[in-house]
Amino acid sequence: VTERALFNGLLLAMFVLAGLVFVALFFMEAPYGRYARHGWGLGLGRRMAWLVMESASPIVFAVCFWSGGHRYTPAMLIFLLMWEAHYIHRAFIYPFSLRGTGGKMPVLIIAFGLLFNTANAYLNGRNLFHFAPEYGSEWLRDPRFIAGAALFVIGFVLNRWADRALRGLRRPGESGYRVPGRGLYKLVSCPNYLGEIITWTGWAVATWSLPGLAFAVWTVANLAPRARSHHAWYRQRFPDYPPQRKALLPGLW
Ligand SMILES: NC(=O)c1ccc[n+]([C@@H]2O[C@H](COP(=O)([O-])OP(=O)(O)OC[C@H]3O[C@@H](n4cnc5c(N)ncnc54)[C@H](OP(=O)(O)O)[C@@H]3O)[C@@H](O)[C@H]2O)c1
Repeated sequence: VTERALFNGLLLAMFVLAGLVFVALFFMEAPYGRYARHGWGLGLGRRMAWLVMESASPIVFAVCFWSGGHRYTPAMLIFLLMWEAHYIHRAFIYPFSLRGTGGKMPVLIIAFGLLFNTANAYLNGRNLFHFAPEYGSEWLRDPRFIAGAALFVIGFVLNRWADRALRGLRRPGESGYRVPGRGLYKLVSCPNYLGEIITWTGWAVATWSLPGLAFAVWTVANLAPRARSHHAWYRQRFPDYPPQRKALLPGLW
């Protein structure tokens, strides 16, 4: 079996699994954060859990970059920068900025996250730096790159801002939940998830690649059902929750 055949099989599996996860998450919340509950076996503290799950992404992607064999064109370097800017923060900074004691994250979820991140970083990195034709300097002037990179930056900024706003709802040592109400939180319950979805949609467009598309689809499959659950949870828990606020898409859903 060639690596190319394995790559294609894995890519196909990602699309199929995304569909299954999307449906499953409408019936059952992933058991971490506010939905942490007994019955999921052994767990790890949140900081360690995020660190373990997410660190595979920046490492595997960087290995693909170094071992890929393509020239280091400006376009390649920009892709590396985009990916690492997101994932170095997510793996090594975000976990240590979390507030509250938080429940444990089940090892099962961590293992699943780790597996996903490894496969996803391999598919995206190996494709960009090895299988796909080289992205030369002319790609930087392509409308797909320009639009995708712009979306990526908008999503990146929104995701960071929204996660920071949630953090600001707790004083150090506090663990409860408050109704967020600043900025885009006036319109939707989960602007952090909206930012994440815009980020990886931008990535898919900027790289114009199937692994990029698979990642964007996964992000929607993961976060759209969770946004719906968070929204319902807020409405149930806070009777005066702003009724005009939507779950994920301003004015729509
Ligand atoms: N690409 C993907 O597929 C993917 C998948 C999952 C997550 N992510 C990203 O990872 C980040 C974290 O995701 P998450 O699911 O943990 O987000 P989340 O449920 O919104 O929680 C984020 C943090 O804010 C706290 N928090 C949330 N709502 C709060 C409130 N009303 N009052 C006070 N504190 C509140 C949470 O505390 P508790 O932990 O105590 O609830 C947690 O520490 C997000 O940026 C998300 O986009 C990406």
